[in-house]
Amino acid sequence: MAKVYVIHENDEWVRPLRAAFEERQVPFEEWFLGTGVVDLTTSPPDGIFYNRMSASSHTRGHRYAPEHTAAVLAWLERHERPVVNGSRALRLEVSKVAQYAALEAAGVRTPRTLAAVGRDDILRAAERFPTPFITKHNRAGKGLGVRLFRELAALEAYVESDDFDPPLDGITLLQQYVEAPESTITRVEFVGGELLYAVQVDTSQGFELCPADACRVDDAFCPTAGENRAMFTIIDRFSHPLVESYARVLAAHDIQIAGVEFIVDGDGVAYTYDINTNTNYNSEAEALDGRSGMGTIATYLGQRLAGVEVSGPSETLAAAPGQG
Ligand SMILES: Nc1ncnc2c1ncn2[C@@H]1O[C@H](COP(=O)(O)OP(=O)(O)O)[C@@H](O)[C@H]1O
Ligand SMILES: [Mg+2]
Repeated sequence: MAKVYVIHENDEWVRPLRAAFEERQVPFEEWFLGTGVVDLTTSPPDGIFYNRMSASSHTRGHRYAPEHTAAVLAWLERHERPVVNGSRALRLEVSKVAQYAALEAAGVRTPRTLAAVGRDDILRAAERFPTPFITKHNRAGKGLGVRLFRELAALEAYVESDDFDPPLDGITLLQQYVEAPESTITRVEFVGGELLYAVQVDTSQGFELCPADACRVDDAFCPTAGENRAMFTIIDRFSHPLVESYARVLAAHDIQIAGVEFIVDGDGVAYTYDINTNTNYNSEAEALDGRSGMGTIATYLGQRLAGVEVSGPSETLAAAPGQG
């Protein structure tokens, strides 16, 4: 029987999707990648494959999960299996430089950015970079390596200290700091290449902005006396010229499901700085709004599954290439 196969490495993030599949009676199986065997002499099973690999998988002890996923996607694509967020999505997921190149190619403004490899070159790059700036990891997620520097000396001290956090792929980005007057960013969610909704995120608490419930800390609500502003608020009717541009970027890279983040400075200029092909949704914000990201994904994948043709009996079917 054909199923939806979910490729991932974080159980917590799949839980709400699992519930959404069950509710809709969509048959599915999880492929938890990180270690395992890909047998190239076999054919993948019939179904639709949804890649939810995350750039931050190494922070959960799954150092090679993206590489493992790339191998599995190459095998699936060789067998012409339908993949949602295939190898091109993965390429963007693990590289902000690739994201910015894709955005700029579609005429979407990104913050001024330099990519530096090596500690000496981070400093060399910073010498000609206007302050304030931030550093971030090229292969990131969860706000890895995001730090604000108001002067060069502070960066020098940081890069030379034991606190320096080397990026997994060796690439540190120096990036123009975009100061939003209201301390918010906007994340625009797409499912099936179409706008689902946009969510406004309060950034006054810092740079780690994973919307999944599993990432939340208890005091994620602003603790300031008398104020209880929710961190995530879904915008009722979001309409913005960037929506169409984002849809074009996603289509050009064969990405069906993603959350794209932008920030607006004091002059009203929007800068787009993050494409999350592995996206998560905030349940409190969704409860207030009524729309459901995982529900929409489950419906979309269920519809795609209905169109899958089942192959002949002659093929040797593979064992799951992960840990079940
Ligand atoms: N250029 C920037 N100017 C101001 N704030 C930024 C900038 N880039 C990132 N941030 C802040 O840091 C957070 C994490 O950065 P992001 O690029 O989204 O990395 P990640 O992929 O780790 O989520 C953003 O959501 C935003 O609040
Ligand atoms: Mg982000």
